[in-house]
Amino acid sequence: IRDDPTAVGEYIANYICKRINNFAPTAEKPFVLGLPTGSSPISTYKALIKLVKDGKLSFKHVVTFNMDEYVHLPRDHPESYHTFMFREFFSHVDIPPNQVNILNGNAPDLIAECNAYEQRIKDYGGIELFLGGIGEDGHIAFNEPGSSLVSRTRIKTLAYDTILANARFFNNDIAAVPRMALTVGVGTVLESREVVVVVTGQRKALALSKAIEEGVNHLWTLSALQQHPWALIVVDEDATAEL
Ligand code: GLP
Repeated sequence: IRDDPTAVGEYIANYICKRINNFAPTAEKPFVLGLPTGSSPISTYKALIKLVKDGKLSFKHVVTFNMDEYVHLPRDHPESYHTFMFREFFSHVDIPPNQVNILNGNAPDLIAECNAYEQRIKDYGGIELFLGGIGEDGHIAFNEPGSSLVSRTRIKTLAYDTILANARFFNNDIAAVPRMALTVGVGTVLESREVVVVVTGQRKALALSKAIEEGVNHLWTLSALQQHPWALIVVDEDATAEL
């Protein structure tokens, strides 16, 4: 628990920095990092960018896999997760663009796209550290309430609560929010060697308490992390309101 979102971001960035530097990645053996979108990880991205600018961290030998992407939102739309990631992070660090992996929500065959994504993760030997955020309904990536806890990368219809929550990014126009997304599964996240989740703000307080103080439950998919051998949830004071 840290005081506020800035302190949470700095803590996670320093943590990831230490993990990457201890791993000492090379071109032959890159560090495979899973990444989220949303407002919660922005303070982490800012702190990571600063570490790179200060010469304490490099993404030259880091390969990334993003958690999710909207279906049928043009790739260059300001709210696509592709645009978000380059705007908030990738454009400011030294990662070669061909080491960035983001699901293509406009692929002609979406199921093939999801299967190929899983295969690409496997080809890299799996994900070393998956950084995640959660929705107010406790979803991790876009694994909405009711998702199988062994699910893999697939198409998901967004819950109405998620569409409402994300309307703030689409000028509060609910109709403009995509109805579907491609997302890594809960099983995909659980298979990574380490999971770090950022949870900030009182809006997430109920989800946090359901996920860590109640049992493993497919209605609060974050709770699946109770079964992960190495999971860390970093929260601010506001997010602890229901604990
Ligand atoms: C979307 C993303 C999730 C993210 C969530 C939280 O639903 N698919 O991966 O965790 O937003 O967003 P925010 O951090 O803005 O509350």
